[in-house]
Amino acid sequence: MHLHYEDQGPGRVVVLLHGFPLDGSMWEYQRETLGAVYRVIVPDLRGHGKSDVPEGGPSLDAMAAHYVHELNQLEEPREGVYPIDSMADDVIELLDELQLTQPVVIGGLSMGGYVTLSIVARYPERVRALMLMDTKASADAPAAAKARLDLARVVEKQNSAEPVVSSMLPKLFSPWTRENRPELVARVHEQMSRTSPRAIAATLRGLATRTDRTSELPKIRVPALVIAGRDDAIIPVTEAEAMAAAIPNAQLVEVPNAGHLAPLEQSAIVNQVILQFLGSLS
Ligand code: MLT
Repeated sequence: MHLHYEDQGPGRVVVLLHGFPLDGSMWEYQRETLGAVYRVIVPDLRGHGKSDVPEGGPSLDAMAAHYVHELNQLEEPREGVYPIDSMADDVIELLDELQLTQPVVIGGLSMGGYVTLSIVARYPERVRALMLMDTKASADAPAAAKARLDLARVVEKQNSAEPVVSSMLPKLFSPWTRENRPELVARVHEQMSRTSPRAIAATLRGLATRTDRTSELPKIRVPALVIAGRDDAIIPVTEAEAMAAAIPNAQLVEVPNAGHLAPLEQSAIVNQVILQFLGSLS
């Protein structure tokens, strides 16, 4: 799997993983500020940005048996799927290629957070610290998973990102951002729209069938920074609070006037919080 990535700055490595259906360019506000002090590596996850857009393997491997039973959705078991764990494997492969075998700081937003939690659960020796932003450890409830699988079909049928854009965009930003940052809303809209429908459908299936990582949180042995936009309408702040309470060495920061994309909506606050956290690691 070829992942496109940006790599800039000196010093200790910080990897930033984007949300769905965005790409690494969502970290534009972090790359410059953090990149002045740290080596910031920003991949595009599979199917997104400039990375490969694979067909996605047969979905049965990724579908937990209870979903198969409960959702009865798999008349076509060869539909493409990008399992979250495969996205995590891609990131580890990239770090291997870059010969970064020492533990690194990994941060992810929303889907990027799910990938981060997969990495820390499955490759704990590769992680120096975690940053979990606007994300959660729990899996989709059956009804939410079914809605995603249905949406994947619609996206494929229409061969367009539009069904996902129109369902997500109104929920992504805080009221403050919608009012004061229309150019940011337009930019994110454009970024979502250019993601390939095939990748969107396969990722929706991966999201719907991801592993619930809640029970693994108490086993995390590295420091974690949990950031939540106070007005996040996609993942409520209560999820961040629960995650921070369950991780032994976690710090929670709630960001005012931010929704689901806190690092873009309130970049100055988020950058300051991240720099403090990273500074505390040395
Ligand atoms: C994201 O921003 O990555 C998505 O909202 C994740 C999700 O829908 O669970």
